[in-house]
Amino acid sequence: MSNIATIEINGKKYELPIVLGSENEIAIDISKFRDLSGAITIDPGFKNTGACYSDITFLDGEKGILRYRGYSIEELAEKADFLEVCYLLIFGELPTYSQLEKFHNDIREQSIIAEDMKKILDGFPQSAHPMGVLSSLTSALIAFNPSSVNVTSEEAIYKAIVKILGKFPVLVAWTHRKHQGLPLEYGDEDLGYVENIAKMMFKKPNKEYKVNPVVVNALDKLLILHADHEQNCSTSTVRIVGSSHAGLFASLSAGISALWGPLHGGANQAVIEMLEAIKEDGGDTKKYMAKAKDKEDPFRLMGFGHRVYKNFDPRAKIIKKAADEVLMSLGINDPVLEIAKGLEKEALEDPYFVERKLYPNVDFYSGIIYRSLGIPTNMFTVMFALGRLPGWIAQWREMRLRKEPIGRPRQIYTGHTLRPFVSVDKR
Ligand code: CMC
Repeated sequence: MSNIATIEINGKKYELPIVLGSENEIAIDISKFRDLSGAITIDPGFKNTGACYSDITFLDGEKGILRYRGYSIEELAEKADFLEVCYLLIFGELPTYSQLEKFHNDIREQSIIAEDMKKILDGFPQSAHPMGVLSSLTSALIAFNPSSVNVTSEEAIYKAIVKILGKFPVLVAWTHRKHQGLPLEYGDEDLGYVENIAKMMFKKPNKEYKVNPVVVNALDKLLILHADHEQNCSTSTVRIVGSSHAGLFASLSAGISALWGPLHGGANQAVIEMLEAIKEDGGDTKKYMAKAKDKEDPFRLMGFGHRVYKNFDPRAKIIKKAADEVLMSLGINDPVLEIAKGLEKEALEDPYFVERKLYPNVDFYSGIIYRSLGIPTNMFTVMFALGRLPGWIAQWREMRLRKEPIGRPRQIYTGHTLRPFVSVDKR
């Protein structure tokens, strides 16, 4: 294959290098194209634009493949635990036993939050959306940890990473407890990383907390499945904010805001709300299928479709199976699971969805598991953020270590050309 692409504009030819990824993905390197030709490329929504080189996650949307650092998501979800996956994503290799132990101990050391942070949390109304609270608390961490990370030192980067991996679950748990009107809890050093998260979230003030392995395993799996997804909206946000050399916590807080939207991580909340609405409306899935297909109706089938997957989202397959298992183990019969399965079946047979290659995505079944674990609907996206944290960290670290330039797209201007100013009395 030639390693040069030729573009012709007004009879003049420009040669551009072709680059290949390790899975043979092809890209045209246009970084010098404007210097050569005066033209830019335009691609709203970055549907066909590679923003970086990355060693972290491989995704083949046509084949439904997802791998972290070369390991298949199916194998990781079955055999690894979330903390191992955090280490793998961030540092590139699965940890040895002693590396994992040190990593966990270093995280434990950092899992205390400044008491004054509680005053900030106090200031929010109990009704505040947990994503807004989490994003604000993550930003507020900067005030208590003001020195920015020295990215020329791997040790300083490591310290910042264990700090956020220690503190973020506490913030997630506090956000949940605030919303539930429960007293704030700290964790227990003797517990595993995810066990500790479960305890911090669910411990009742008047009852000893007993680890439920079904709950912990389900959480562990969900966190692994959400841990990274290459250059999605929130991850690109983290990278672009970090590219201005804003600190790690500021970049993460921006990523949380990006994740919140219903077209991205907020879809898990929107799915359950949609399924509930269908149930309340008598369970008429056909009516909602028709609404989703009606171009005059803004309704979309939430949890369906994906920018990159034009085949089954491999995470959705794992989550669907897990939803059945978890609900059975917990003895829960959730009628919305049946509605979800019915909708999925109809959509997969419907020409509108088939032609557009719209399949269930990661968010379609995850909410059903979250709520079986006792997590309220508006906390679902917070759980997604907790899972995505190692991915954001890994991508931020990679971007800084590669000394990527500041992210700054161009545009094609479509506004007025030069016109004279008209004073207010003449307008
Ligand atoms: N329901 C009905 N029609 C849909 C849906 C849907 N969920 N998704 C896409 N379409 C249609 C869309 O109307 C368009 O039709 P046409 O070609 O006739 O105009 C076509 O399919 C392509 O859609 P698009 O919006 O151009 O595709 P996109 O790549 O820009 O958007 C998406 C991807 C995920 C934003 C979109 O599929 C969607 O809004 N899905 C529902 C929200 C959702 O579940 N989001 C979670 C995504 S996965 C987790 C995550 O990223 O956080």
